[in-house]
Amino acid sequence: MHPDALPPALQALLSRHSLGPRWMVAPGPDAVELQLAVQAALRGPNHGRLQPWRLVQISTAQRPALADLFEQFAREDGKSEEDVAAERERAFNGPVLVAWVVRIAAVDKVPSHEQWICVGAAMGNFMNAVHALGYGAKILSGRKCQHPSLVRAFCEEGEQLVGFTCIGTPTRALEAREPDDAGPRLSDWAG
Ligand SMILES: Cc1cc2nc3c(=O)[nH]c(=O)nc-3n(C[C@H](O)[C@H](O)[C@H](O)COP(=O)(O)O)c2cc1C
Repeated sequence: MHPDALPPALQALLSRHSLGPRWMVAPGPDAVELQLAVQAALRGPNHGRLQPWRLVQISTAQRPALADLFEQFAREDGKSEEDVAAERERAFNGPVLVAWVVRIAAVDKVPSHEQWICVGAAMGNFMNAVHALGYGAKILSGRKCQHPSLVRAFCEEGEQLVGFTCIGTPTRALEAREPDDAGPRLSDWAG
């Protein structure tokens, strides 16, 4: 089918690619657009209605405080001065920055792997929503997400910091890192 003949929602899904923060400028999504993306995230398949995730937005004014936490991680990790500075810079990534916080509950009917799948589905929907709104975005994480100071800063007891999504207006076209090949992902059962 010609791409132009596809439903717009599918066109958006098929054209999403991550965009690194160096390729984004202000503005990012406003409060209304961000709420829409969160609503889309809530439409991800979600067993047991647990919604085992939440998002925390880091404002522009809070970026230096986040940079301090990134620096603390980098210093305790023994990074060079250059890498400490680079780690600090990451706190200023993206005009809009949100953190993903996850709580996996002890629920008999919904094992933890299913809850994690729900988190991934929410992330996917969120990323697709911001793309459909015309923004570029990327999920970034790294070992710092397990650093006690960062965990304390974002999580309550029993929660985990999974990563950050930076979102902004793209300064270049979105590109695939590699071509997608749907073929091997779908087969007929031989049973
Ligand atoms: C939970 C999660 C954490 C990620 N953390 C990183 C990261 O720290 N650094 C990175 O380069 N990519 C990270 N990625 C991958 C990128 O966000 C992105 O998905 C990947 O580069 C593939 O690009 P695409 O989305 O255009 O296919 C992460 C993805 C997920 C889902």
